[in-house]
Amino acid sequence: MQTMAYISITGASGYTGQEALDRVLAHRELELHAVGSDSLAGRDAATLDPRLNRNGGRRVPQFITNEAALASGADIVLLCQPHENAAALEPPAKGVVIDLSGAHRLTDASLYERWYGFAHPRPEELSEWSYGLPELTPPTGRLIANPGCYATAALLALGPLKHAIDPHGVVVDAKSGMTGAGRSLKALSHAGAVLENVSPYKVGSHQHVPEIAQVLGFPVSLTPHLLPVRRGLIATCYVRSTGADLRALLTEFYAASHVVSVLPEGVAPDLARVQNTDTAEIGVFEDSFTDRTIVICAIDNLGKGAAGQAIQNVNLLFGFAETEGLRLPGVLV
Ligand SMILES: NC(=O)c1ccc[n+]([C@@H]2O[C@H](COP(=O)([O-])OP(=O)(O)OC[C@H]3O[C@@H](n4cnc5c(N)ncnc54)[C@H](OP(=O)(O)O)[C@@H]3O)[C@@H](O)[C@H]2O)c1
Repeated sequence: MQTMAYISITGASGYTGQEALDRVLAHRELELHAVGSDSLAGRDAATLDPRLNRNGGRRVPQFITNEAALASGADIVLLCQPHENAAALEPPAKGVVIDLSGAHRLTDASLYERWYGFAHPRPEELSEWSYGLPELTPPTGRLIANPGCYATAALLALGPLKHAIDPHGVVVDAKSGMTGAGRSLKALSHAGAVLENVSPYKVGSHQHVPEIAQVLGFPVSLTPHLLPVRRGLIATCYVRSTGADLRALLTEFYAASHVVSVLPEGVAPDLARVQNTDTAEIGVFEDSFTDRTIVICAIDNLGKGAAGQAIQNVNLLFGFAETEGLRLPGVLV
């Protein structure tokens, strides 16, 4: 058990990088070591956001390049970069590395070409990475693949049920806020395309499909939708029980969790209640007309779906309190 650790962040100018930075500044056991950004290297932290000048006195160093942040000798490096970019990086010889991208989540390297659109440049190293979803597959070793946002919501809902449901025909209908696409400008995320609209995208081809199948042991049909909101994600999962009481299984599985809560009967998860938090809400409903159970999970894509989960993984690996630095209390209005 360690009492303090130095942490560096690459891609700190992006959405997940900024969210990770904010949680590190609120964490009593982490000391910020280096912040990487190729576009801001050599500039003050306040260039990214003037609020970094009022961080309660904790020092944010000047930005350095992502390569320098990776090699900065910290106990922990959080990689907050695009998939293809992160896949090509050589991890430092020592210390924990947590990759928030999808570059190290799949154990079968041949899947990258089909689902991510590039051949993995370091396929032989994928077996060295562990998939860190704290409630289902706690992180082990020093190289951790942080789960994807849709995968997190679907797996929190379905993981504890995987031996109690019919594996055929599971459907996951999922919706996410715009920050899920990152901060770089794309035609799909222009205000003109997003506002007053809800659009399905990557239907049948989203890269989280094989990630979910890898953990569950069977594939699901996932249809993601883009919502005209900044953040938050809801996955509505349609399953058939093979006999067990699925609500009872989920309630028991998460009984001791401070992060995931199973809501009382009749209460549905709600985007607004999880936005800006690192929590997950799960609702369970019986559809007796079609003999299906509907399990709904809501998270914040940047919280439990990215930076909050990365910090939760750090806490577990270093023996810190699991919820240290996380945003858990809800905002009532
Ligand atoms: N957004 C989400 O909700 C979410 C959730 C879970 C996982 N993720 C994953 O987390 C990773 C980061 O996502 P994000 O949303 O933070 O992305 P983002 O907002 O686009 O930020 C990515 C950052 O990476 C840096 N970068 C380094 N090399 C780059 C390159 N070759 N091309 C473009 N940017 C480069 C950029 O900063 P500099 O140019 O300043 O270095 C950029 O700010 C992605 O792999 C994403 O799939 C995202």
